[in-house]
Amino acid sequence: MRISAEMATAINDQISYEASSANAYIAIGSWCERIGYDGSAAFFFEQAAEENGHMLKFIHYLNSVEAEAVIPAIEKPPSSFESLESIFQFGLKSEQTVTRAIYDLVDMAEKEKDRSTYSFLQWFITEQIEEETLFHTILQKFDLLGRDKLAVYQIDQSLASVRSQVMSKQTSQKQTYSK
Ligand SMILES: [Fe+2]
Repeated sequence: MRISAEMATAINDQISYEASSANAYIAIGSWCERIGYDGSAAFFFEQAAEENGHMLKFIHYLNSVEAEAVIPAIEKPPSSFESLESIFQFGLKSEQTVTRAIYDLVDMAEKEKDRSTYSFLQWFITEQIEEETLFHTILQKFDLLGRDKLAVYQIDQSLASVRSQVMSKQTSQKQTYSK
């Protein structure tokens, strides 16, 4: 094993968070689909696929450094939610928790002088900035457009394009910084 046992345990915990996030986003997507929030349903199913991708990255990493990735059992997520705004608040909170967990892993890698894990985690730092910005941008829309039925409908419909808007903004910022 080319990383410490403590680091392997911490990364396995992270695999568990990613799996729970993916599951929670699928539950939210399913609720949205039932209610008729089609834009949000598509958004959360896509978000779940991203979390699943994150989980796989950690699994591949652990296996590649000869540690053992443990596939976790997942708790049942809630099946009904208060409002469209509340699910995006939930999403933002959940992303903030994941960001803190990633930072803890980075701190641990620094302390252990584990260059391999430190370098591997850099992608996740950028990814978490994007995820938080995405949820912030969507929540802002409730303040801008309101919370009546028509506003919520418009926000739901706008979600098809919001991900690509946020991603292209981030990419152009990255290009500006690197100049
Ligand atoms: Fe994630």
